[in-house]
Amino acid sequence: MDRTKSLSLAPLAALLVMGFASGTALALPRDPYLQRVGPDTATVAFRLASNCSAAQVRYGVGNTSAAARSTATSRIHAVVLTGLTPATTYTYSVDACGETTPAKTFVTAPVPGTRRVHFAAVGDFGTGGSDQRKVAASMLTNKPELFVALGDNAYASGTETEFQTNLFTPMAALLAQVPMFATPGNHEYVTNEAQPYLDNLYLPTNNAEGSERYYSFDWGHVHFVSIDSNCAVGLASASKCTLAAQKAFVEKDLAATTQPWKVVFFHHPSWSSGEHGSQLTMRRQFGPLFEKYGVDLVLTGHDHNYERSKPMLGDAESGKSERGVPYLVVGGGGATLRKFATSRPSWSVMRDDAAHGFLDVEVVEGTLTAKLVKTNGGTLDSFSLTKELPAPPPPPQGTLNVTVGSASGTAPHTASFVATASQAGTSVTWDFGDGVTAQGAQVEHVYTQPGTYTATATATSQGAAPLTATTVVTVTGSGTTDPGTGEEDPGTDTGADPGTPTNPRPELPSTPSTPGITPGEDSEGGGGCAAGPGVLLPAAALLLAGLIRRRRSR
Ligand SMILES: [Fe+2]
Repeated sequence: MDRTKSLSLAPLAALLVMGFASGTALALPRDPYLQRVGPDTATVAFRLASNCSAAQVRYGVGNTSAAARSTATSRIHAVVLTGLTPATTYTYSVDACGETTPAKTFVTAPVPGTRRVHFAAVGDFGTGGSDQRKVAASMLTNKPELFVALGDNAYASGTETEFQTNLFTPMAALLAQVPMFATPGNHEYVTNEAQPYLDNLYLPTNNAEGSERYYSFDWGHVHFVSIDSNCAVGLASASKCTLAAQKAFVEKDLAATTQPWKVVFFHHPSWSSGEHGSQLTMRRQFGPLFEKYGVDLVLTGHDHNYERSKPMLGDAESGKSERGVPYLVVGGGGATLRKFATSRPSWSVMRDDAAHGFLDVEVVEGTLTAKLVKTNGGTLDSFSLTKELPAPPPPPQGTLNVTVGSASGTAPHTASFVATASQAGTSVTWDFGDGVTAQGAQVEHVYTQPGTYTATATATSQGAAPLTATTVVTVTGSGTTDPGTGEEDPGTDTGADPGTPTNPRPELPSTPSTPGITPGEDSEGGGGCAAGPGVLLPAAALLLAGLIRRRRSR
């Protein structure tokens, strides 16, 4: 971080080593990172070197005059900002343990339905190497509104330490300014079926299980769906997730969305001529749903190359008068590229095994334009999709405010909601964020599973565009507290002793565990590192190495 600039390297090394030994190291070994950004909310997550009970996020438009205090008392913090304005640039910084991070900015999501979206996507990047850093820097230069991460986010085993060294350290600048919405790769599943992935990321939980493994969200007029392909291809135990539950979620979700553009992303590719080839379970279990509900684009990774299919239908190319689904492999995020061993099949429009890069996508009205941006700035591939959109709805009239009683608690937790619309004759529909909906201006809902839920109220009235507003509810398991909700959430009552750090997410560093199920179908990562439990270096040395690399890169 910038605050290390004034320190020479030798004293810095001594400070780090002493700090880890004494528990008084730099307060923020991980830069703040953005998660679950929406039209009126954002989560700012950060990790401290030691317990700290007075951390807060200061934020505002053009200043940092507002403050949201973290309720966490340990090293792991995630502060939820609420009441934000859509499509607005916010400045923020973190105060913790006497330190203040440099101010950064991020942009909130536009109002759902807004017909202009810019996002980036890539997978197979989590090596901690130079190619990953180049891809991240290139992506940040393009300033997408959100970053869709296609899996294998932290090689080789997705351990707690590897998430720091291979994701948060090399991509710190990007993740502090662009919210990442991820899907898990097979390498994340090497360690305890992706538990460190779940511990380190804060993702939507709008499925019936309240699970972060798969989810959906709107950004403007694009509906995104993240599927955990590990749950479909035999890498997850049934207690974690199942193919049947995911298919039920995907079908219900795609049937319900009103957004005109639908983008689905997961790790194992339905169509690929790369080293791993096509994953037929993903193709045949989910392809019919994509076709039935008009999915426009499917983004995957796993193979360390780029490939774009023709519009596909079932196991073949679609006919000229049929509407097929294009499938992409965008696996050049940083891991060692793999050469194609076979000639290009007829269904493959374009493929490349020589360039790292990311997919840059702009969706404006009824046109989606995408290009594969190489780390040298060149464009490897570009294409566009078009569709007819209905006339835009009239602009929203009036205002909609929501309040929640008892915004946090222990499962099963009952939360009460009130929606107040300024316009008469308005009807209100609630989506509680766990797959359950209800109607009415005043409603109650029981959350049965731990998680952080975004409840969305949609107010509709005759002749006017719908209004939406959200609020956040945090539900913990028995005997645990969830890190840091913002102080704007009223009625917080975690039921935990505030003097006892009881975070459910493990702290850095941790010892990787060997999973009962070994992904082991490939060996990926920079330099060809193999999938399997990794060798842990001391956390202080890893952090020092990262800081030295950062100083050299300046
Ligand atoms: Fe993979």
